Amino acid sequence: MRALVTGAAGFIGSHLVEQLLADGAHVVGLDCFTDYYARALKDANLAAPRRHDRFTFVESRLQDADLDHLLRDTTHVFHLAAQAGVRKSWGVDFAVYTACNIEATQVLLEACTRTELSKVVYASSSSVYGDDGDMPMREDQRPQPVSPYGVSKLAAEHLCYLYWVAHRVPTVSLRYFTVYGPRQRPDMAFNRFLHAMLGGGTVTLYGTGEQTRDFTFVGDAVSATIAAADRGAPGNVYNIGGGARVSVNRVLELMAVCTGTRPRIERHPVPKGDMHDTYADKGFTVLGFPCDQFGGQEPGDDAEINAFCERNFGVTFPLFSKVEVNGEGAHPLYQWLRSEKGGLLGSKIKWNFTKYLLGKDGKVIGRYSPTTKPEKIAADIEKALAA
Ligand code: NAD
Ligand code: UGA
Repeated sequence: MRALVTGAAGFIGSHLVEQLLADGAHVVGLDCFTDYYARALKDANLAAPRRHDRFTFVESRLQDADLDHLLRDTTHVFHLAAQAGVRKSWGVDFAVYTACNIEATQVLLEACTRTELSKVVYASSSSVYGDDGDMPMREDQRPQPVSPYGVSKLAAEHLCYLYWVAHRVPTVSLRYFTVYGPRQRPDMAFNRFLHAMLGGGTVTLYGTGEQTRDFTFVGDAVSATIAAADRGAPGNVYNIGGGARVSVNRVLELMAVCTGTRPRIERHPVPKGDMHDTYADKGFTVLGFPCDQFGGQEPGDDAEINAFCERNFGVTFPLFSKVEVNGEGAHPLYQWLRSEKGGLLGSKIKWNFTKYLLGKDGKVIGRYSPTTKPEKIAADIEKALAA
């Protein structure tokens, strides 16, 4: 496979690139580093692919790229570049959504008409459904988005279908349902909640917290995306979700267990455009995939909690070294690490924030609770650094 991945520096795009490379593909990644969130995070997302000799990176807006050249040897296109985020899509910001989500897609599809491709996979969204349809959400029900973002994703879906019907560009649209996992975008709930809970900040909770999402693990979304490139039927739309849903309150409960903290919650009104519930019908079944269900099984002992956090949140010390801590109220261990050691520990020691301090060899140096005296931890860390 020779793949072009747009939005390659983003959350899902970077995971997809890594998997395609692992599967033996040649990959060209394209991204223009929009300023929706920090470029440093996107550069970090690309760190591993950039070291790979089957990976080429092109920094460009899709609309400005020499697509005829990029598509010349391409067999598969994965179109993930977009302005994501539901809640910011109102007002003047909508211009960004039309440019990145609709115009950029049309430019790409036009270029696809001038070459032979095996498949063009487009990253659509559960946000096309809105609040008034059936539950679980079926691909054949009438989409009625409740956010301008959803409208833009649906418009691009229609363009994909149109270019299949009119030009035989073999497009497949995938409706991802709220994706979580390591490197999740910093505006999304899991990332925001964890940073707040670990940094002693306040969790912003929209509405009652009883809203539900069919949270989908990024590794599953990537597998389904690659499966769609292989056996998705052109012109079709597929849900990419686990077919189970969890409330936001339940997510907070699980994170409290994992972090050993009690979240300080500030309630805010539900922002316009936020759907109340999402719940996928059978997308993974169509593509022949089982999918993990977030929160299905609560992690029990410390080892399980650590494995759960690593897999689902990708939390390691360097990630939360970026959080601004206001000092008061921060988790004591974390507060100490910030004030005394800054980010320096990241390179030497892996910090599994709940209970363990691990040495570079992966061995447990110490086990702590949130009330362990910082001096005790300090002594252990000094010993480990000296070893
Ligand atoms: P992301 O913001 O992390 O990645 C998108 C990337 O696209 C960014 O790196 C951005 O710089 C790039 N980009 C945007 N416009 C571009 C343009 N015109 N030219 C070149 N590059 C451009 O977002 P993500 O969460 O990884 O989402 C990836 C795709 O999946 C998006 O299309 C999004 O709408 C869709 N989606 C995401 C989720 C989710 O839960 N994350 C759910 C449903 C759908
Ligand atoms: C996510 C992505 O951000 C969209 O790009 C994507 O298109 C969409 O999924 C999708 O599935 O189509 P969203 O479901 O809003 O959108 O994802 P989160 O930002 O993770 O929010 C999940 C829930 O947590 C929402 O109910 C939201 O209201 C709530 N939330 C989020 C809070 O209560 N507080 C926050 O600080 C953030």
